[in-house]
Amino acid sequence: MSQLILGQTFSFTGNPWHMPAGEAVRHIRRGAVLVADGKIIAVDEADTLIAAHPAAKITDHGEGLIMAGFVDSHAHFPQTAIIASWGKRLIDWLNTYTFPEESRFSDPDYAAQVANTYLDLNLGNGITTASAFCTIHPASVDAYFSAAQARGLRMLGGKVMMDRNAPDNLRDTAKSGYDDSKALLQKWHGVERLSYVITPRFAPTSTPEQLEATGALWAEHPDTLMQTHLSEQHEELAWVKELFPEHSDYLAVYEHFGLLGPGAIMGHSIYLADREWDAIRDAGASIAHCPTSNAFIGSGLFHAVRAHALGIRTGLATDVGGGSSFSMLRTMASAYEIGQLRNDALHPAQLLYMATAGSAQALHLEDKIGNLEAGKEADIVVLDLASTPVIRQTAARADNLWEALFPTLMLGDDRAIKAVYIAGKRHSG
Ligand code: GUN
Ligand code: ZN
Repeated sequence: MSQLILGQTFSFTGNPWHMPAGEAVRHIRRGAVLVADGKIIAVDEADTLIAAHPAAKITDHGEGLIMAGFVDSHAHFPQTAIIASWGKRLIDWLNTYTFPEESRFSDPDYAAQVANTYLDLNLGNGITTASAFCTIHPASVDAYFSAAQARGLRMLGGKVMMDRNAPDNLRDTAKSGYDDSKALLQKWHGVERLSYVITPRFAPTSTPEQLEATGALWAEHPDTLMQTHLSEQHEELAWVKELFPEHSDYLAVYEHFGLLGPGAIMGHSIYLADREWDAIRDAGASIAHCPTSNAFIGSGLFHAVRAHALGIRTGLATDVGGGSSFSMLRTMASAYEIGQLRNDALHPAQLLYMATAGSAQALHLEDKIGNLEAGKEADIVVLDLASTPVIRQTAARADNLWEALFPTLMLGDDRAIKAVYIAGKRHSG
């Protein structure tokens, strides 16, 4: 049974970080997406597709802008309930809010409850794929993947590993972290649309023994991704230097333990030395840009232009709950503002690219998701470009697509999410 989704369609035909936005985007004012068996079959003029597929079921979103669902390249589902917690900087924030909350995930019922809330909030914000850190508890991973499976989502995630500098009840060991991660990987990786991601929290919370075991696990499972944090705050950098004095810089620690490779996703990556930028590029590793988090925790200004100039796979990320919003629209607004503080005025096409195709590339899923084009999975969001009075009055003056879109990117939130499709099925939220 095929269906046609009607509205304005928005697809990337190229990368707006490397060519003019007008050449990188195909926008059809009265377009349609033909969907069958959970996949996008065609994107074209509505009249053309309706004539060619008279039996298809039609859903008309009018002026709604149909595009690929948002892809969040780095988040912490167990931090859902502590989002927007006041105060202090990264290390205090972890100790004061994050670790006490994460310790509650030893309870499978609590883990299930938060996993469900997290995914519903994601869907309400048009996020159809995310790569999430769970907690050290295997039950948190089971809860997360079970909730994703129940919704038919393409989701990624993994058990956090940490065996030092964390409370007693939030530490695994080099051996148990390896064993538990391996068992969870074998249980969930490749099941339906789920992918396991090897997840050492960050260098300061793992002993060299744990990092070594993690590198060994990844070497045994090279088809999995590995996610961690890199170079987020000055105090963290100083701490890494103190804990690993023998390594020349932060990235060198991960490199030493075999944790830099094409499937590595480095969250934040704000304070990189030239050598580290080049090493990330040479390894083909990815970066997750977490702008609301970097502003909220006071971390700093990520250099998005440099990452793209180097050709690094760069995704956009909420980093919930260090990040201050579940909305990828709010996250794009934050990325724009951080660009402005660096004197880089990012184009709306570049922001949208990072939030969809760029994140898909960062997660090595660009052949499956991240763009509204034939062959991709039908994970789709429909945006209302006039979702609030203030957006409506500004957008009404627009002379072109970008002027029509930009108010929603800067001022929009979950009210702008008109519809979400998961593998072609409309989500009723
Ligand atoms: N570094 C290590 N753990 C975390 C975390 O949970 N959030 C953020 N923003 N940074 C981290
Ligand atoms: Zn994070």
